[in-house]
Amino acid sequence: MIYHRLGNLPDKRHIQFRREDGELHSEELFGAEGFSGSSSLLYHYHPPTRVTKVEQGPEITIEPWETGVLRHHHLRSAGIATGGDPVTARKPVLFNSDVVLSVGRPSEPMDYHYRNGEHDELLFIHEGEGNLYSSFGTLPFREWDYIYIPRGTTYRIEFSSKENRVFYIESTGPISIPKRYRSELGQFMENSPFCERDIHRPQMPLFHDESGEFEVRIKKLGRLHRYWFDHHPLDVVGWDGYLYPWTFNIRDFEPITGRIHQPPPVHQTFAAPSFVVCSFVPRMFDYHPLSIPAPYNHSNIDSDEVLYYVHGDFMSRKGVEIASITEHPGGIPHGPHPGKAEESIGKRETKEYAVMVDTFRPLRLAKAAEGMDDPQYPYSWQAATAHQ
Ligand SMILES: [Fe+2]
Repeated sequence: MIYHRLGNLPDKRHIQFRREDGELHSEELFGAEGFSGSSSLLYHYHPPTRVTKVEQGPEITIEPWETGVLRHHHLRSAGIATGGDPVTARKPVLFNSDVVLSVGRPSEPMDYHYRNGEHDELLFIHEGEGNLYSSFGTLPFREWDYIYIPRGTTYRIEFSSKENRVFYIESTGPISIPKRYRSELGQFMENSPFCERDIHRPQMPLFHDESGEFEVRIKKLGRLHRYWFDHHPLDVVGWDGYLYPWTFNIRDFEPITGRIHQPPPVHQTFAAPSFVVCSFVPRMFDYHPLSIPAPYNHSNIDSDEVLYYVHGDFMSRKGVEIASITEHPGGIPHGPHPGKAEESIGKRETKEYAVMVDTFRPLRLAKAAEGMDDPQYPYSWQAATAHQ
């Protein structure tokens, strides 16, 4: 991402770096894609390998909801029950082998640390604020932040707010920033809708000097594994590198507009090998004298399109509410609801906020989606249907 350093580091990598008691610190290379991708070098007070107990944890399975029919879905997630901690609150609604999309309203604290060993995570904080404590330091987050957490990060999330709501994106492939936004050397270019100043990085405090019994729950190979340590797992005294958790607030996305309707890629915020994430934010509408600001009908021949509605009156949809999720699968066209194209003409701006995930392979519905589903949604394009 962007080079960052925090805490105490030796002058060169891989040289002696001693603690005040004369023992060596334990250096750890935290690297993606073997030794070829982004990485960070961390200096632990204790060897990160010094585990005292390893136990098998529960299996993590997603029960599918097999509807047996190809159709559009509108899932109302606003009313889901609160409960669980920031990890266990996750209720998967749509998934495939590349990505899992979940919703959750965490209300309980984490008395352990978590490490997702097989997915990069992107959390959209719809409601709530707090801190993410990880080996990389303290990362404050607030409402409407995306929090990027690289796989393998040991972390604990603590909300300071009571009402919390999160849209979770877990990715098998690495999540990154679109290549076209960055120069050959990685700097954000002038065409990018956001830049380095919008990326918020971990801060001090970093090192937690505590001994006792500490649990780290590691997700890997479809189940949890419980690892126990006799020291606090966040014992890094210093680190530097390019791979670490960071936040980006959707309000800092600077929209790109045009005389006629701009296609969804102008809203792209994140890239992964098998999906993209776009941010829809308040913006001026198209300004050609004959422009139609509402989108044209489109057939997603190659992708499923998921929209998570954050705030505002979404210009092309009737009946959606906060935390609604629409899923428009590949193979069938979708477009504005009746009247919405005409209604959009002459409008100057939109105040909508939404997060879109377009997947390149078909998504499956998870069981939790069944209770949120509006079965009338496929018929909501009929003019006679007052779809609510
Ligand atoms: Fe669409």
